[in-house]
Amino acid sequence: MIKLIVALCMSAITLFATSNSSQVCKACHTTIYNEFQSSLHVKASIHNDAIHKAIWDKHPLKAKAKYKCAKCHSPSDLKLLDELKKGKEALPQKNSIQLKEPISCKYCHQIKDVSNHAKSNTNMMNNKPKTLYSARVNDKDNSNVEYKEKSSWFGMFKETTGSPFHNIDFTNENFYSGKTCTGCHSHKQNSHKLIICDMKIGEANITKDTCISCHMPQVQGSFANSKDTNTHAYHGFTGVLHKPQMLSKFVEFGFINVSNGFEISIKNSASHNLLLHPLRVGELQVSIIRDNKEEKLKSVKFMRILSDDNGTATMPWLATKVFKDNHIKAGEERKIVFKHSIQKGDIVEVRLGHYTVNPKVAPKLGLEDKKDLTTFKLFKKARFEVK
Ligand code: HEC
Ligand code: HEC
Ligand code: HEC
Ligand code: HEC
Ligand code: HEC
Repeated sequence: MIKLIVALCMSAITLFATSNSSQVCKACHTTIYNEFQSSLHVKASIHNDAIHKAIWDKHPLKAKAKYKCAKCHSPSDLKLLDELKKGKEALPQKNSIQLKEPISCKYCHQIKDVSNHAKSNTNMMNNKPKTLYSARVNDKDNSNVEYKEKSSWFGMFKETTGSPFHNIDFTNENFYSGKTCTGCHSHKQNSHKLIICDMKIGEANITKDTCISCHMPQVQGSFANSKDTNTHAYHGFTGVLHKPQMLSKFVEFGFINVSNGFEISIKNSASHNLLLHPLRVGELQVSIIRDNKEEKLKSVKFMRILSDDNGTATMPWLATKVFKDNHIKAGEERKIVFKHSIQKGDIVEVRLGHYTVNPKVAPKLGLEDKKDLTTFKLFKKARFEVK
């Protein structure tokens, strides 16, 4: 009987070793797997992201049946990538990879390096199928942690190091610096050579923080079921859409009285623009509360508008220039003066947030009924009492 169980377990492990599925990682990294389920990386396919689908439906590549977005939105769909490579028709099918793990655990953990190109960067993958990269400062010179069992107390206790399922390489510098994120998250150029998204990697080394320390902060719970560690790197990926409150400490407000009004400052400590995607619109809402009555002032919007040569706003693939860009830049402290008289005892309430899809663009994408995408979402608020 025991032999049978052992045999079954062994065959499960062998099966594991050949499978790419994130489902497999769940057995031993349950907490991380559950967080991953809530992340935008799991929803990056057209089948789970209404915005991505809406843009894709209008995109000229759709008519050509070439889903080149796969490079970043579903790199785990190897069949699709292969069809693209062979120049065949390649469209995202409703398969389990697209639906459940378009960017899988294993994909990220096998990014060896990133090569830089004008159009967009490219991930260079590890070719050792069993080895995963990770970051652990104390083990940084260990390139191949293999599974080992050590018995103590005459075989009563077993102590293990490494994972029975995979080897670990802790020497990849990109897992410490955050470069591993920049194969997909750096920039994208359209066919008119206009850079439509740009994180300006390398320009703004204003913080000791990295993509990883800000967006995957250490949170409570062990990183593996069989290990007892206090914390692990958050795999839900904090962002504009998911758990933004975990990022709010990187933005600070200030308030001062000035002649005939007041000034609000917004300090952005992130290493990139406060909002990145061209569909996003930021908004600063300010109101004055006096005798329990609230007066709303005209809000200030932050956006990046892409246009054609004549200055008419267009979809990203048609754009030839950036018509307007007033997003709050990396490290910038933006100061905005409100010419509005205030008096001692007034409360000035400041609310910063965003619209996921610019409400003016939503009808062009057929997204006007998706209210969650076109209503204001609060990121951070503060109240100042006028002295
Ligand atoms: C070089 C990598 C890369 C390629 C290629 C790429 N994208 Fe993206 N895309 C990203 C990243 C990274 C994000 C997340 C950025 C952010 O939120 O600011 C994103 C976000 C988006 C979003 C916003 C999603 C949301 O929920 O708000 C849309 C829409 C989108 N992409 C459409 C496309 C389409 C359509 C294609 C193919 C024609 C494409 N992308 C190709 C990297 C890429
Ligand atoms: C059979 C159990 C098991 C499975 C399945 C498994 N792991 Fe692990 N993994 C472990 C254990 C145990 C460790 C801790 C090793 C140590 O600390 O010595 C570990 C460590 C890791 C680490 C390094 C952690 C660190 O310290 O930085 C990464 C990354 C990782 N696993 C990713 C994955 C991914 C991705 C998958 C799925 C493709 C997966 N694991 C599947 C058991 C497993
Ligand atoms: C110092 C902390 C910090 C660092 C470093 C940092 N970010 Fe951010 N990131 C933020 C903050 C703050 C926001 C804005 C959250 C909001 O407005 O809701 C943000 C937003 C984002 C968004 C969502 C933008 C959108 O418009 O949808 C993406 C994607 C992102 N960061 C990726 C990255 C990547 C990739 C790196 C590394 C190259 C990085 N970040 C480095 C703090 C940081
Ligand atoms: C978008 C890329 C990405 C995806 C997807 C991803 N990881 Fe990670 N993972 C990382 C990075 C980067 C680190 C290093 C973070 C650190 O330790 O600073 C990491 C760290 C880890 C660790 C070590 C955690 C710790 O706190 O030391 C484990 C274990 C792990 N990942 C497992 C998984 C599993 C399991 C999945 C899928 C359920 C997964 N990862 C999906 C990028 C990713
Ligand atoms: C294989 C490409 C790829 C890699 C590698 C990758 N991302 Fe992403 N990431 C995406 C795409 C695509 C999206 C947008 C998904 C969507 O909404 O459709 C995204 C979305 C995000 C968001 C937005 C979340 C929000 O709530 O607004 C953050 C933050 C983010 N990624 C951080 C990271 C960090 C940090 C790393 C490195 C550890 C990383 N990503 C690695 C492709 C990637």
